[in-house]
Amino acid sequence: MKFIQTKTYAELSHKAADIIAAQIILKPNCVIGLATGSSPVGTYKELIAYNKKGDIDFSDVTTVNLDEYVGLDGSNDQSYRYFMNDNLFNHINIDKNCTHVPNGCAADLAAEGEAYDALIKDLGGIDLQLLGIGLDGHIGFNEPDDVFVKATHEVVLDESTIKANARFFANEDEVPKTAITMGMLSIMQAKKILLVANGKAKKDIVQKAFFGPITPQVPASLLQLHPDVTVIFSEE
Ligand code: F6R
Repeated sequence: MKFIQTKTYAELSHKAADIIAAQIILKPNCVIGLATGSSPVGTYKELIAYNKKGDIDFSDVTTVNLDEYVGLDGSNDQSYRYFMNDNLFNHINIDKNCTHVPNGCAADLAAEGEAYDALIKDLGGIDLQLLGIGLDGHIGFNEPDDVFVKATHEVVLDESTIKANARFFANEDEVPKTAITMGMLSIMQAKKILLVANGKAKKDIVQKAFFGPITPQVPASLLQLHPDVTVIFSEE
């Protein structure tokens, strides 16, 4: 594991974008796993700037996102599809047909999960997976549990996740209580993992996840077993 500590969030975002840009330069038709939330927003801004300058080309890139709220479609400005369009896809030269986010409005979420895993397999797996980390150690929306859940699946969000994400909604009651998330298998099978975490509030969970015991009660701790993980942490 490579652990990079930066002074500022800007520096974290710059380094994360450089790693993603390097992946795209080395393999222009790569598959990149993407995350939402506040942590990667600066990284996406940097990637947009690189693309506008002509330094990286997204025309052959495919993306697969980690998760989506159940019941929110892409036109809902709180959905993760909307977030991705707004924070990245609308501003770069990517083919939107090659950007994938689980469908939180699927009538059969179990079938949607199976189809999502099959899609990732058909794409040849994920070359680089970008992750944030929740205060309870979740990655994607793989919440603390008695087991690591392998497949893409529906999940009931933890109270702490609902509280943390309420800042994006008018009030806590509006935060969906369930989501669909990529499971631990597709994440662990990604060739490279890049996890970004910023803010003093994340310090303890980063410590637990990467230097504590490997347990499904801290889902990110499984990343200790991945052969190519880079963690970028900034206390700012
Ligand atoms: C979202 C996701 C989540 C977030 C995590 C941290 O797609 O995968 O695991 O990365 O909840 O969110 P922020 O960055 O808002 O602290």
